[in-house]
Amino acid sequence: MIDWEFPYSEKLLKFYQNSGRHLPWRGDGDPYRIWISEVMLQQTGVAAVKGYYGRFLSRFPTVAALGAADLQEVLREWQGMGYYRRAENLHRAARIIRDDLGGQCPETFEGWLALPGIGRSTAGAIMAIGFNRRYAILDGNCKRVLSRVIALDEPMDSSQGIRTLWHWATQLTPQDRPGDYAQAIMDLGATVCTPRTPRCLECPWLAGCRAAVLQTVADYPHRSKPKERPKYSQVAILVQDAGRVLLRKRPAGGLLAGLWEPLSVPRESFRPPPSEADQVVELLWQHWQVLGREMTMLGKVQHAFTHFHLTVWVYSCRYVSGWPQGEGIGWADHGSDRPVSSLHAKVLAVSGFSK
Ligand code: ADE
Repeated sequence: MIDWEFPYSEKLLKFYQNSGRHLPWRGDGDPYRIWISEVMLQQTGVAAVKGYYGRFLSRFPTVAALGAADLQEVLREWQGMGYYRRAENLHRAARIIRDDLGGQCPETFEGWLALPGIGRSTAGAIMAIGFNRRYAILDGNCKRVLSRVIALDEPMDSSQGIRTLWHWATQLTPQDRPGDYAQAIMDLGATVCTPRTPRCLECPWLAGCRAAVLQTVADYPHRSKPKERPKYSQVAILVQDAGRVLLRKRPAGGLLAGLWEPLSVPRESFRPPPSEADQVVELLWQHWQVLGREMTMLGKVQHAFTHFHLTVWVYSCRYVSGWPQGEGIGWADHGSDRPVSSLHAKVLAVSGFSK
């Protein structure tokens, strides 16, 4: 029989008071601003979010300002943070609030959950931090902390594991100061109960952590075997003319929707080099009715998306004549304000083209 003292929220709240991080979105009671911070923090680390949060809010200080903006402006402010669907969802949600909710942000958990891009944990965080209501959160840090506290044997990302973790996340959330508690457990995960070499001796929950008592902290959390991500490759063609490059806008609804990219096609069906450059010239004509000269392969760029790896072979040519068929194609000058993803910023940089 091991001696396991159930972890107490007061100990964690005291830790937060003494050692909590000072972050720009803390101490802000405006649910709109908390919503923005939580969505940014869904897939971007604290250090990077710090560089975006203030700027985004000075550009869109209210939900009305966000709803009134063009999606392209929102994507421009998001540029470089990745997972652009979040920006699209924020913008859609702001318009739902404007058009269907009388311009007022929701005040209930269900109201937030109904908006695009907001799941159970984000809605819980907004309710706890913004309204001081007793709602639990379960982000990545919190999953790791709780997996250790209860010595969870299932993988923390399996459906059974997640069910068990939600149960404990809810149980442990206190009636008093649930917002501080939510931020405290995230801080504990980020600064003490870290993925590698956790600082157990500094942990307010040491006596309540089952894995620590069993001296098996390093074994947790368990994870499911990662799925092999498929590999795809693409050819990107930088059609250049007097310092300008042709870009096209990605269609709504898909990956990197609304962002701009060079003309690109899948590379799988290509014959191998050295004839590849000639094929690219042909293809440029067939797909877009653009004639290019001096087609040159400049290099390749690798990028990992959540579900696949992509290699982009970057070609550049001089524009001769023709005009691309299709919507959303246009010239971009150096330093143009058309928003592009980090991947396509890297692709453009191969030719020295700066955004
Ligand atoms: N991750 C998600 N939400 C957070 C918050 N409010 N503070 C720090 N990290 C977070």
